Amino acid sequence: MRRKLAAGNWKMNGLAASLAEVEALAKAHPAPRSEVLICPPATLIAQMAWKAKGGPVMVGGQDCHPEASGAHTGDIAAAMLKDAGASHVILGHSERRADHGETDAVVRAKAEAAHAAGLVAVICLGETEAQRDAGTTLDVIGSQLRGSVPAGATAANTVIAYEPVWAIGTGRTPTLAQIAEVHDFLRADLATRLAGAADVRLLYGGSVKPSNAAEIFATSNVDGALVGGASLKAAEFGAILAALDAA
Ligand code: PGA
Repeated sequence: MRRKLAAGNWKMNGLAASLAEVEALAKAHPAPRSEVLICPPATLIAQMAWKAKGGPVMVGGQDCHPEASGAHTGDIAAAMLKDAGASHVILGHSERRADHGETDAVVRAKAEAAHAAGLVAVICLGETEAQRDAGTTLDVIGSQLRGSVPAGATAANTVIAYEPVWAIGTGRTPTLAQIAEVHDFLRADLATRLAGAADVRLLYGGSVKPSNAAEIFATSNVDGALVGGASLKAAEFGAILAALDAA
């Protein structure tokens, strides 16, 4: 049985005052059936991990450098995230692929660094609108999957998030059939290359909110969500978590 996962990506949002949202979430959902993860900006990881200690909320980073240490001004190594209290790290988010030119090879190297540091890598994939319109979605997803997921990936150290670029922050979502098509494809493709692929969690991300969460969570091979905007407020993220627990 794959344990469901509700993951929040705060992106470049949140100051110390926002930590109250995590406390509110843990108070409202002290013992969820699903795993709960929040990935705040790096500046909040240590404080959030401290506040979340002993509760249901796990804390993650939003990126790490592929190398373990060195002269890389402004970057953060996987071991530093772990040291600050993180258990997970989001890698290859489309905003980083677009804003920082991250290739599949870079994402794979980062995932290897995350694994070496004992972090779970949440590896993101997704097609652009032009790629979907051109009918190349599964080709794009397949090549991102093969290029970004390292050979050492297991169900214990890796989560895959399918996030169509055109659905992120837009309020638009694919049809449930489109989500199922990609998730079924991911499951089948992983099975050809990874032992234990049946246990790897597959998240959907892109405009998940309380009103569409239940139907998305009822979709084939969807094991949870990676949530951006709706993860910033405990009430909204809590409602998504409740939908996942009920799925
Ligand atoms: P969104 O972002 O929920 O705000 O669409 C999702 C993501 O980028 O992970």
